[in-house]
Amino acid sequence: MGRLEGKVALITGVGSGIGQATAQLFACEGARVVGADRNAVTGAATVAAINATGGTATFVAADISREADCENMVKVAVETYGRLDILHNHAGILHPLDGPITELSAQAIDETFAINCKGMLFTVKYGARQMIKQGGGAIVNTGSDLAYIGLANLTAYTASKSAVVGVTRTLAVELAAHRIRVNAVCPGFTFSGMNTALQADRAFMDQMRLDYLVPELGQPEDVAQAVLYLASDEARFTTGAALVVDGGHTIK
Ligand SMILES: NC(=O)c1ccc[n+]([C@@H]2O[C@H](COP(=O)([O-])OP(=O)(O)OC[C@H]3O[C@@H](n4cnc5c(N)ncnc54)[C@H](O)[C@@H]3O)[C@@H](O)[C@H]2O)c1
Repeated sequence: MGRLEGKVALITGVGSGIGQATAQLFACEGARVVGADRNAVTGAATVAAINATGGTATFVAADISREADCENMVKVAVETYGRLDILHNHAGILHPLDGPITELSAQAIDETFAINCKGMLFTVKYGARQMIKQGGGAIVNTGSDLAYIGLANLTAYTASKSAVVGVTRTLAVELAAHRIRVNAVCPGFTFSGMNTALQADRAFMDQMRLDYLVPELGQPEDVAQAVLYLASDEARFTTGAALVVDGGHTIK
């Protein structure tokens, strides 16, 4: 029996990378998955691949920077599968205009926060309402190791991800009475669509490999396994935590 048998899980950002790997893993573990993404082509492809291999999944197009889309994702989950047990707030961006603080634009800050913070909060707003009605649930927010370690020239992104980790604690306290656990996963460098530009920067990648105790760096599946743990009943005593999955980057 799968570790998520009987559960309904809503995951944002399933079109690529870590979100895609997590959707696949959750489905393999028996969850019925509602996968959301603003990219309808890649998001629907992830869901189609799950259904083609014996899993159960539904795609919903959503831009999480819009409150109405966050509300609709939860509605689709409940209308399709009758409930919502797990919410994984994964979708997020590294803004192309993020950079040195002396050059940082309002656009980079606003667009980063609109997705990485506001989108997460609105999704929890509607997801938690449903979980409260049901009497419990598990929420996993995607933070970053940059909430714990300084890396120059990623100021808007780091600010947004530090906020995710901070508010995870607040939400854990606020929702505990409803038996809703809230945790964060904090990945280190993980090969995905988000960092293709960085992957092409040889000097940056060489430095990353020196900075990590696991020089292979991360694959989406490595992070998905941590999300699975936090979302599953095996983590029933874990709430308000931030699980760092970073090949030893932050402790070095
Ligand atoms: N890859 C890393 O090294 C790394 C490290 C730490 C944290 N993260 C976090 O992981 C998440 C990104 O995942 P990834 O690395 O697999 O990247 P990715 O770019 O491969 O996937 C992100 C997915 O989210 C979707 N998305 C972006 N904005 C959206 C929006 N407004 N509404 C709905 N969907 C949206 C994209 O279309 C894409 O499918 C972010 O939250 C990021 O902060 C990644």
